[in-house]
Amino acid sequence: MSDPVVQVVGIEKSFRSGEKVIEVLRGVDLSLHPGESISIRGESGSGKTTFVHILAGLEGFDSGELCWRGKPVKGRRRASLARDRAGFLGMVFQSFYLIPEMNALDNVLMAGRMVGRLDNTARKRARELMDRVGLGERTDHLPSQLSGGEKQRVAVARALMNRPAVILADEPTGNLDEITGNRMMDLLLSICREHGASLVLVTHNKSHAKRTDREVVLKLGRFESPEAPPG
Ligand SMILES: Nc1ncnc2c1ncn2[C@@H]1O[C@H](COP(=O)(O)OP(=O)(O)OP(=O)(O)O)[C@@H](O)[C@H]1O
Ligand SMILES: [Mg+2]
Repeated sequence: MSDPVVQVVGIEKSFRSGEKVIEVLRGVDLSLHPGESISIRGESGSGKTTFVHILAGLEGFDSGELCWRGKPVKGRRRASLARDRAGFLGMVFQSFYLIPEMNALDNVLMAGRMVGRLDNTARKRARELMDRVGLGERTDHLPSQLSGGEKQRVAVARALMNRPAVILADEPTGNLDEITGNRMMDLLLSICREHGASLVLVTHNKSHAKRTDREVVLKLGRFESPEAPPG
C-alpha cells in the first residue's frame, strides 16, 4: 500500500483549566492513505474537533507523533508549517471562520492567495466551486448576508480551492437540511475521487459516515469501530 499522507501514532492530549485536567485523547492512532476517506463520530465533547485541529497542526499535543507525508510536524517553524498546510490541507472548520469583510468569492479566493495564486485561473476555479456548492448566484454576498448553511458551503468551497491532498471537514453538513447535506457529501466524495484526495469527515450523521471507506467512533479518548447493527 502507498505511504500514508497523514499519520498519527499514540496521540495524547489533555486540557488544563485551573486545577482541573480534561483528558481528551488517550492514545489515538490513524494512518490515512491517498484517496482514502474516513469518518469520525462520537458524542459531543468526545474530542473530534480537538483531533482534527491536531491533524491540521493547529493544536499541540502532549505525546505521540504526527507526520504529513512522512515528515514530522512537531517542532517545525510556524511559517513553514503554514505554507505547507496551505498547499496540502483543506480545512472546513466547525465554526466556518469566514472573513466578515470579504464577500463569498473573495473568501474562497483567500485560500488561493495563501499559496500565491490570485490569477484568472484561480478566479475561475473559485467561481466553479461556488457553483458546485450551489451558491453561484451569491458570490458577492458578505458572510453576514448568508445563512448558516450557506456560510458552511462557502467554507467547503474555500477548503477545496487549492486541490488539497487532504480534506479535513468538521461537521460540514451540520447546518444543512437532508437534501443539501447529501449533495454536500456527493461533492466532497466526488472531489476526492477526481483529485485522489483523502477525506477526514467528522459527522454525527450515520448515513453520511457509512459513505466513507472507513468509520471510527471516538470514545473515552480512543478510536473504536462502530457497533455492528443488531441482527
Ligand atoms: N481550549 C480548551 N480548553 C479547555 N478545554 C477544552 C478546550 N478545547 C476543548 N476543550 C474540551 O475538550 C473536550 C473535547 O472538545 P471538542 O471540541 O474536541 O469536542 P467535539 O467532539 O468536537 O464535540 P462537538 O461534537 O460538540 O463538536 C470538551 O470537553 C471540551 O470542553
Ligand atoms: Mg466539534
